[in-house]
Amino acid sequence: MTTQHFLDLRNFSSQQLEQLLTLAADMKSGKNREKYLQDKTLGLLFSVASTRTRISFQAAARQLGGHAEFLSAADLQLSNHESLLDTASVMGRYLDAIIIRMYDMSRYGEGRKSLQLFAEHAGVPIVNALDDQDHPCQVMADLLTMQEKFGAQDYKKKKVVFTWGFSERQKSLGVPHSLMTAGSLLGMNLTFCYPEGWDLDPQYVEFAKEQIEKSGGTLNFSHDLMEASQGADVIYMKNWKSLRFSKDEEQKIKQEIRADWCVSPRHFEVANPGAVYMDCLPTVRGEGVAAEVLDGPQSIVYDEAENRLHVQKAILATLVK
Ligand code: CP
Repeated sequence: MTTQHFLDLRNFSSQQLEQLLTLAADMKSGKNREKYLQDKTLGLLFSVASTRTRISFQAAARQLGGHAEFLSAADLQLSNHESLLDTASVMGRYLDAIIIRMYDMSRYGEGRKSLQLFAEHAGVPIVNALDDQDHPCQVMADLLTMQEKFGAQDYKKKKVVFTWGFSERQKSLGVPHSLMTAGSLLGMNLTFCYPEGWDLDPQYVEFAKEQIEKSGGTLNFSHDLMEASQGADVIYMKNWKSLRFSKDEEQKIKQEIRADWCVSPRHFEVANPGAVYMDCLPTVRGEGVAAEVLDGPQSIVYDEAENRLHVQKAILATLVK
């Protein structure tokens, strides 16, 4: 990998993504047990909550022979108005890599701009642990999970329906953007399904359309979850915020449409036999997905969560020298 940071999958080639997935699978199977992070110290700078990302990165660092220190932005001098520039410059003097979760809504800085500032000034690899635009680590885990379920190449032929689901909370566009990017680079068969007005960022859609032409995959869009579920092999639900509506407008519209945007057993009745349910979690049962689906035999959400550990080990091993 020539890229020093892991911020946005649009900066990677399909070959680089395939290499990461192969390394992750080798690490998971025990074929590769190398201690890539011996004596390395990583920082996890988070300004918002996390269960999976935080814990899986700490476990990943430990399993590779290193250490990851959790650093809540609220506990740093950032909370006393120290600048991000000084924070990034100083942290880079102590640490071998910095893993960052920041959203625009955070009081500590704007998500992507903050990550880019760290990438420019810290002098060490920066990993995006979720900002407003991308969640690349999550999507690498999703790809590994689909590979395991359907086969290392066959998963690309499967119909993956990525659907918006109702949630009381407003969420980042990170997962749909990163999946659209990776899926288009790798030649997957993707359908993005969402209510009118919840379009993804046109820059990501444009990139994906260009890549899918080259990779031989398919990229479809739908506003009807029942129709999109016909013949699906994967139904993956995630809430994301709208780029068109204000927060108040969004709350009102969401309540009106919530019944249409909850994945239920009815959707699996029209999906292909053996279809699976994916969800990056956290998810509230009965909001974007029925409990029978999330807890049912088609659900592979805990495999997906586990794979965060394995892909992040591969990402760190590749990035941190
Ligand atoms: N999927 C995910 O990123 O989970 P956390 O918010 O718990 O880290």
